[in-house]
Amino acid sequence: MPSQSFFKMNDGFEIPAVGLGTWKSEPGEVTYQAVLDSLELGYRHIDTARAYGNEEDVGRAVRDSNVNREDIFVTTKLRYQDEGFESAIEACNKSLKRLDIGYINLYLIHWPLKDKRVDAWKALEVLKEEGKCRSIGVSNFTIEHLEELKESCNIIPAINQVELHPYHFQQELLTYCNSENILLEAYSPLAHGKKLEEPRLVKIANQLNVTPAQILIRWAIQHGMIPLPKSINKGRIGENFDVFSFDIPSSVMSELDSLDEAYITCWNPSNPPPYAPT
Ligand code: A2P
Repeated sequence: MPSQSFFKMNDGFEIPAVGLGTWKSEPGEVTYQAVLDSLELGYRHIDTARAYGNEEDVGRAVRDSNVNREDIFVTTKLRYQDEGFESAIEACNKSLKRLDIGYINLYLIHWPLKDKRVDAWKALEVLKEEGKCRSIGVSNFTIEHLEELKESCNIIPAINQVELHPYHFQQELLTYCNSENILLEAYSPLAHGKKLEEPRLVKIANQLNVTPAQILIRWAIQHGMIPLPKSINKGRIGENFDVFSFDIPSSVMSELDSLDEAYITCWNPSNPPPYAPT
């Protein structure tokens, strides 16, 4: 079983360097089995959200696994419909009930909803204080959104979860987050599976004798980011976690960095649609 590494967040808690993504992981047995498989294969970090509709399945797999709760890191997110102070507190209590695993390791505001996000953040500060969530953070926040929180709130987010891969390498955001001690989590680190046959990536993977998916995941880790590859297939779940026994040389990292073409597979928070991600 691959031995993984951890990053330390700005509140002192550790976070496993790779997590299983569950966006688009079908609620019910599919998600339940994927989470169980991942825990069996060595993952200790699962990322879910209220909006994905699979918190119950994640919680049930965590409870049914042979791994101690204390050794598993579970993230869930506040959906945009629940932003605001009171509604965020209530939504977190409901997520805790659905998950039924005692506490949430990391609770994120899913989407920077105008006029609601600052109040939602104040609620997350209270939830952290109460121990319902150990760490708090945000998702899909731009530098502008993070600056706004810094001015109006007490706690700096531990995490910002955004779409990140070499084809959408948000270097300016990474530099900003490094300087503010905010860790970046990479959702859709495989570019949603849409670039795995891209010739330059395939060439690099062949050179290093690993798969294109492993290159994308390792690239994120070596940049100090936490990739959250989604898979419901046990073989691919295992492949995506087998990334701790090789290094990408710095010259190849630069080559991968240069693949950036602002290729967004999900949502663009700088130009948000009138609705938010589900
Ligand atoms: P599946 O769940 O059937 O494995 P991302 O995390 O970037 O959003 O990518 C998720 C997509 O990539 C899903 O369609 C997933 O399908 C697929 N995927 C996950 N891991 C791999 C892999 N190692 N090789 C090829 N496709 C993968």
